[in-house]
Amino acid sequence: MNNNANGIESCSKCVLIINVIVLGIETSCDETAVAIINSNNQVLSNKLYSQIDLHKKFGGVVPEIAARSHVEFLPHLIEEAIDDAKITLENIDAIATTGGPGLIGGVIVGVMYGKTLASCMNKKFIAINHLEGHALVPKMTENIEYPYLLLLVSGGHCQIVMIEELGKYSIIGKTIDDAAGEAFDKVAKLLNLGYPGGPIVEKYAKKGNEKAFEFPKPLLKNGEHNFSFSGLKTAVRNQINKLEAISEQDKADICASFQYTVSEIINYKILQALNLFSAKFPDSKNVVISGGVAANLYLRQKLSENIKNLGYKLFYPPIDLCTDNAVMIAYAGMERLKNGYYSNLGFEPKSRWNLDEIIY
Ligand code: KG4
Ligand code: ZN
Repeated sequence: MNNNANGIESCSKCVLIINVIVLGIETSCDETAVAIINSNNQVLSNKLYSQIDLHKKFGGVVPEIAARSHVEFLPHLIEEAIDDAKITLENIDAIATTGGPGLIGGVIVGVMYGKTLASCMNKKFIAINHLEGHALVPKMTENIEYPYLLLLVSGGHCQIVMIEELGKYSIIGKTIDDAAGEAFDKVAKLLNLGYPGGPIVEKYAKKGNEKAFEFPKPLLKNGEHNFSFSGLKTAVRNQINKLEAISEQDKADICASFQYTVSEIINYKILQALNLFSAKFPDSKNVVISGGVAANLYLRQKLSENIKNLGYKLFYPPIDLCTDNAVMIAYAGMERLKNGYYSNLGFEPKSRWNLDEIIY
């Protein structure tokens, strides 16, 4: 057994973590985020600077603006996070940084900062796959055993994955075009509701009739595990063009019908995926939804009811851990530390990085 000053003890087969502190950095899209957690899963600080106002007027994220803003805000957020946690930089044992996938300029900023801190302060550096952060963070607040079936739905991703154990992930299906969150954002844009679209569409949908308009449900056939949302978005655009003047009630009806359709598609796909999952893991009854769209209460409720009838339980993170944050990156880093995995400083930032391509 080797001891080191950081409270990390290791032998050839195990890593024992005692009072370890991990600092997480997230810069893969339009949120600059820093969090500090300890090995009891306590969040010591959680800082987030959202760039929404910078990108709003463009109707979407502008990569160059995002990267420059990360450069500007990341150092301040790290200082604030350390102050908030009432620790010093020396108390931190490892720096976990999103290493991809994402907008490459932003990922480079986070990785370079994380590597530099780790190297100067002689700390461990752990490059985290952003999707792995989303995939694991529900375990931080709920007692969820491996294996579980994961639906990861965000602005950039929509996929169903078997989470077998840490680092062993098999993708059952994914979107072949738009992600579900992207479709929410585009519908909001078509209706001039603002950005990001998900929360606004959900709010409007509450006042609307979900059967007012019938929208297509692409790729809804037996044995097809992939998703497609671009046809749905086009159908919404065509419907809007057909209406001469759009009233507030029309907007609500479109949002409700769109949200209903997304929910129907997701529910169908999850049931299909459960056939595969239950054949492989008959004893596991855990389904997890994560990513920005998992903040949608309507979707959570429909999915929860649907799978409950089959004996499964739906888990989801608290709303602030659904959308991008650094707690999930710090948590994935801690899980890796507990299993003895670190990255070396030669790690290269990645714009694309599938969940099933993570190599320890
Ligand atoms: O996970 P996230 O913060 O970023 C990515 O990794 O992509 O997800 C952001 C996405 C946006 O598309 C946003 O519109 C969507 O999550 N979103 C929602 C809700 N809250 C955020 N979609 C539907 N309903 C919501 N309540
Ligand atoms: Zn994300």
